[in-house]
Amino acid sequence: MRRLAVVASLLILPLAYGGAAAQDTALELGERIYVDKCEYCHGDGVQKGGTFVLEARYQGDLPGLLTERTNLTPEYITAVLRTWTNGMAAFRPTEITDSELEALIAYLTRNNE
Ligand code: HEC
Repeated sequence: MRRLAVVASLLILPLAYGGAAAQDTALELGERIYVDKCEYCHGDGVQKGGTFVLEARYQGDLPGLLTERTNLTPEYITAVLRTWTNGMAAFRPTEITDSELEALIAYLTRNNE
């Protein structure tokens, strides 16, 4: 019985570890994409266009900085990124692939409750 438990934990450990590692990779990839494609408008400081517009809109009720938000949903992020909004051009799947979008969503929703 004990041997069975040892064998079982040997099988489960790498699975759990593999899962955690995959999650880290998605977050790291998401952050890299964010720095590369979003930060020049959504970085820190009101001289950044996106941060400026969002600070002005939310007047302190929500952070202007996307990386400090805790209420962005995957559906909303996808809608904004794939559709042209007032102030922000859409990113086509040739610019940000669906799997890159998934990583970006993992990064931007990492602090959600
Ligand atoms: C050229 C500047 C620019 C770039 C690049 C840009 N954005 Fe934006 N973004 C804006 C502006 C301006 C707004 C406000 C648009 C509006 O009026 O609704 C905005 C709004 C958003 C919103 C909606 C926030 C809210 O509270 O409604 C999300 C989410 C968002 N951007 C995500 C991203 C992501 C993710 C990237 C990178 C892939 C990105 N943006 C790149 C300028 C930019």
